[in-house]
Amino acid sequence: MIQKKDILKIAIDSPAAAGAGTLAKSISKYYNLIYLDTGKIYRLIALYKLKNPKKFNLNFIKKKIKNLEIKDLKNKKLLSDEVGMEASIIAKKKSIRKLIYSFQKKLAYNPPKKYDGSCLDGRDITYNIVPDADFKFFITANVKTRAIRRYKELKGLKKSVSFKEVLKSIKNRDKSDYNRKISPLKKTKDSLLINTTKLSKRACFLKIKKIIDRKINI
Ligand code: DC
Repeated sequence: MIQKKDILKIAIDSPAAAGAGTLAKSISKYYNLIYLDTGKIYRLIALYKLKNPKKFNLNFIKKKIKNLEIKDLKNKKLLSDEVGMEASIIAKKKSIRKLIYSFQKKLAYNPPKKYDGSCLDGRDITYNIVPDADFKFFITANVKTRAIRRYKELKGLKKSVSFKEVLKSIKNRDKSDYNRKISPLKKTKDSLLINTTKLSKRACFLKIKKIIDRKINI
């Protein structure tokens, strides 16, 4: 793959509901980077599976990925916990991960011309998709805080869920994402740990901005 030179590449990994998405979006906007929430791709495939269980096979997914556009990832249906859990299950399959690999790589290394780089978040971004990123972050928060955030988000979307269910689902997802054999979630040695438990969105943004500015302004 021919790679675009002189672009800023940011790679983020994080467990579910740690606030990485919000942070990645604000960072991307500030530095004019294309933002890809890679979890949404797994969620989209999970949604296809839930909607078309009979048609669901690798060929079906291949065709969908071939025509995939970033705007498809904005579908509100992708946000439910049911889709999130299914995404975590299908994400264990090597064959499915392989199909998504090139889409992510292409966007990370060859962002559209109008952008100055890329920012991807997910579970295997720092060591698998963008291993030579200029900045690598592992964003986390304690499990209760993450569950409270996800619960509020789902309530905002008028979903009828209890806090207990959300907490259980996040714990299950952690188990599935950290312990799987293929591309598990992990903090690499060269990633900076950002614990957002006690930080506001603004404080997280400023912390990361300071780290980036220190390096790119030299
Ligand atoms: O970030 P999220 O909650 O939207 O991700 C949904 C699931 O997709 C997550 O539980 C595991 C999977 N995923 C993955 O395996 N690798 C990624 N890079 C991103 C997400």
